[in-house]
Amino acid sequence: MDLFEYQARDLFEAHGVPVLQGLIADTPEEAQAAAAKIGGTVVVKAQVKTGGRGKAGGVKVAHSPEEAFDAASKILGLDIKGHVVKRVMIAQGAQIDKEFYFSVLLDRSNRTFLSLCSVEGGMEIEQLAEERPEALAKITVDAVTGIDQAKALEIAKAGGFDDALAPRVAEVFVKLYKVFVQEDATLVEVNPLVLTKDGKILALDGKVSLDENAEFRHANHAELERDDLDPLEAKAKANDLNYVKLDGEVGVIGNGAGLVMSTLDVVAYAGEKHGGVRPANFLDIGGGASAEVMAAGLDVILHDPQVKSVFVNVFGGITACDAVANGIVGALDTLGDTASKPLVVRLDGNNVVEGRRILAERNHPLVTVVDTMDEAADKAAELANR
Ligand SMILES: Nc1ncnc2c1ncn2[C@@H]1O[C@H](COP(=O)(O)OP(=O)(O)O)[C@@H](O)[C@H]1O
Ligand SMILES: [Mg+2]
Repeated sequence: MDLFEYQARDLFEAHGVPVLQGLIADTPEEAQAAAAKIGGTVVVKAQVKTGGRGKAGGVKVAHSPEEAFDAASKILGLDIKGHVVKRVMIAQGAQIDKEFYFSVLLDRSNRTFLSLCSVEGGMEIEQLAEERPEALAKITVDAVTGIDQAKALEIAKAGGFDDALAPRVAEVFVKLYKVFVQEDATLVEVNPLVLTKDGKILALDGKVSLDENAEFRHANHAELERDDLDPLEAKAKANDLNYVKLDGEVGVIGNGAGLVMSTLDVVAYAGEKHGGVRPANFLDIGGGASAEVMAAGLDVILHDPQVKSVFVNVFGGITACDAVANGIVGALDTLGDTASKPLVVRLDGNNVVEGRRILAERNHPLVTVVDTMDEAADKAAELANR
């Protein structure tokens, strides 16, 4: 689970990492009040789970509460790489002298932790990594010994820090490593870590990913997740559905992660012929999916305003096709007029004949039953493109 910057900032603060004051705001009025509370120059920052906010116009300096109001008006609602800004953070402004980069992450391919560090941080870090990879140090971190002051110094030196700065940033690296281990994170990244004109070291931007498998060890982590404002994801989570929102137009429901993955592929492929429509989501209702679960899944997808058509792709196993068909019919009846998007249903497997019979008998105007997966994907893409 990725955190918003303001959540990362809070975790940093709790672990003694030097940060500046930051307050969240959902409206320009709240932003203005927050800026007045902090005082002086502030920076209004889009809270979206993607990088490159600065370049996209999502980070603006404001010298007064009124300017913070204006900046927030411009940033709220902005679309940054498909993420619409619903909240901003008003951060105390720093007088930056130099920008650095530091991260520690779980390196799955090498089964170890890895730290990346460079004295040349800031918004051009991707470019640096590509054009001069030698300027971005990659240091393996032993999970048992971790990052103590000596290891942190090794990382800082490798990243190009001079003898005067290295011990000072190293102290911060040790604390960031504490965040990484104690919060069960898979990534802690600070870009930029800065040296201010008055000589302070501060973490000005933070990216943290938490290991969801460790959620049971952290009373506060579930709450961090709830702060993610997408109501569809919250609804799916409440119904124990495995749902991931994507940015296309064809809603997808299937049973079993493998089937859903291949459904996304066939939809994307079919979409090429129909105006480039793409899958709107991943939704796995599970192997033993009941009628209630199907209803909950349809409820989530049909309420996604981006969805233009829905492809239900079910292979009947433990839950037979007739139960699934009843689930679809029941869901449409429950949803009534709120179900207004065409559904393409492909059923196969256990009790398929009975399942198709139930759908044919109900003869719902929104439902088209198609026999094969490819044809169904084609139909769903065509309907989404109308
Ligand atoms: N609190 C702050 N005070 C002064 N400048 C800031 C502050 N926060 C960010 N900046 C500047 O804005 C740039 C982009 O902000 P950042 O939080 O790194 O967003 P992103 O990485 O998404 O572009 C930083 O590199 C830094 O120069
Ligand atoms: Mg940044």
